[in-house]
Amino acid sequence: MSTPPDSELARAVDALVSGHVIGLPTETVYGLAADATNAAAVRQIFALKGRPAEHPVIVHVADASDLERFANRPSAVARQLARRFWPGPLTLIVKRTAIVPGVVTGGRETVGIRAPSHPCAQALLRRFARGQSGAVAAPSANRFGGVSPTTAAHVREEFGDQLGVVLDGGACEVGIESTIVDVSTNRVRVLRPGHIGLAQLQDCLGVPVEFLEQPTIAAPGTLASHYAPNTPVTLGDRTALSVLLSSSPARLAVVTHDRSVTRLDAPERTGWFHMSADPSSYARELYDTLRRADRGGYQRIFVLAPPKDPRWLAVNDRLQRAAHPRDPGE
Ligand code: TXA
Ligand code: MG
Repeated sequence: MSTPPDSELARAVDALVSGHVIGLPTETVYGLAADATNAAAVRQIFALKGRPAEHPVIVHVADASDLERFANRPSAVARQLARRFWPGPLTLIVKRTAIVPGVVTGGRETVGIRAPSHPCAQALLRRFARGQSGAVAAPSANRFGGVSPTTAAHVREEFGDQLGVVLDGGACEVGIESTIVDVSTNRVRVLRPGHIGLAQLQDCLGVPVEFLEQPTIAAPGTLASHYAPNTPVTLGDRTALSVLLSSSPARLAVVTHDRSVTRLDAPERTGWFHMSADPSSYARELYDTLRRADRGGYQRIFVLAPPKDPRWLAVNDRLQRAAHPRDPGE
């Protein structure tokens, strides 16, 4: 992770002040950012992404001291989580204040807020706080339903000249989207697993934390099919892989954290994409690997399923969504 020169940050802030959308690195994934208090600017994000208006976007602030500006009477639990994990890869769903335009929340009374720890995002938000809102609404910088970007080059590939400024902060350290925790009611519910796990949240709060595999709130990232490359993805075990390799005429890309599968009998044309056997490193590499496999001219991407272990919860969640058949028209 790195921070671009001051002149680039100044250009980015100018763009935000003029109501434009910029590409912004965070420690999780790159975002498409606009002034969170400027409804017209936020509408441009939706247009660029091709995102339906009812899907809310997350507000990004510099640190926990900004919580009360955007959250209406945050609970003790919300404040505790913000103090402990911000800046960092944790989004809190809280009741919104009047400063948050309806377009940000898709008309909901709740808003997602997080403070990204990436030094570039921090520098930008602090600079943007001088005489301005200091808050940017930002979804991941990919087209709706696609794979999130983890480098500035990914953002450029996706949006080309449609963005005047894409800040380059290097490759994202976490690599998958933030953990989302709903603390807008008196329960604590994880809506999207991420780098910060259930155990860490529970340790901090000392109360049980629920994980909803199928949240009732329809929103991107909680849709069954999401984070998906264009090439169809199959998630399966070693046996499924060996059957595919021996029976399918298709050119296969194999994404694997287990090197021993390369000993299986495989046609010459098979592409091997080696992943780390550690869940955090795997998460860091995941989206770039899916993008590379997607560009490789394969007919199918086979991902060897990681262990069903709490440490792999977030990675397994993204892989299941990538492998889910797409809804027609999505
Ligand atoms: O790590 C991240 O969270 C990245 C970086 C850029 O910060 N952002 C990100 O944004 O993943 P996006 O738009 O791709 O996903 C936002 C998620 C969606 O699943 C959305 O449904 C949920 O946040 N969300 C936002 N506001 C919400 C709300 N009020 N209630 C429920 N879910 C909400
Ligand atoms: Mg997204």
